[in-house]
Amino acid sequence: MTQKCRIYSSEDFVHLRKVGELTAHILDYITSYVTDGVTTLELDRLCHEEILRHNAIPAPLGYNGYPKATCISVNHVVCHGIPSDKKLADGDILNIDITVILNGWYGDSSRMYVVGKPSKRAMELIDTTYESLMLGIGLVRPGIRLGDIGHAIQRFVEARKFSVVRDYCGHGIGRVFHDDPTVLHFGKSNSGPMLELGNVFTIEPMVNVGGYKTKVLKDGWTAVTSDRSLSAQFEHTIGVTEEGCEIFTLSKLGMHKPPYDIKRQ
Ligand code: MF3
Ligand code: CO
Ligand code: CO
Repeated sequence: MTQKCRIYSSEDFVHLRKVGELTAHILDYITSYVTDGVTTLELDRLCHEEILRHNAIPAPLGYNGYPKATCISVNHVVCHGIPSDKKLADGDILNIDITVILNGWYGDSSRMYVVGKPSKRAMELIDTTYESLMLGIGLVRPGIRLGDIGHAIQRFVEARKFSVVRDYCGHGIGRVFHDDPTVLHFGKSNSGPMLELGNVFTIEPMVNVGGYKTKVLKDGWTAVTSDRSLSAQFEHTIGVTEEGCEIFTLSKLGMHKPPYDIKRQ
């Protein structure tokens, strides 16, 4: 079962850089609004408006019937949290996942945010998840196999006594939202497709304090940890280059992981 991985040209990379920059900007922009008492619906509305102001489209809205512009996953929600009128409270941790379409090109990225002062364990979870993503990204270059990346992420996370979600994965992206290859955040080294110059995909590990199992709530979207333990995720869209890779969705303001130094624009 080999997966055909599309090859994008250096001209394509110009578009991917542009949409990646916008995706990162939305995540930067929303940072100062994440506070005690705000609803995730309000955060969704702010992101949606900022996306439209840049003549872009929020990819999740209407995607397989998804009802909102963003996914906001709070505490034990692993991913695909639907923005709601529930207020954030001190100690909450949350992931905001933004996918935008700009001139037909997709950018997909997510970060963790915190409200007030979460527990030490929650902050360790966030740090470990971020470090696992960056460790995976650091391995990307032509000739490496995707299994090498998943294996390294899993080994790192489990050494910290956390677990890696198996039910959701990264994906090829570019002219479409979800493409081949499937990017697992666990598994065997020396397995899976071999990366080539011009491949474009996401890495987006979801890491839990407890077990790796997840379940989907009755709304058909919200994925939660089966044991209701906390979960964290970070995501970047990257492209394979000769030297390694280019991260299209890096924050220009250095807002990589919480706690953020808030600069309102
Ligand atoms: N942005 C998510 C990802 O990283 C996908 C969200 S699909 C939605 O792949 F429909 F839930 F929005
Ligand atoms: Co993604
Ligand atoms: Co995403």
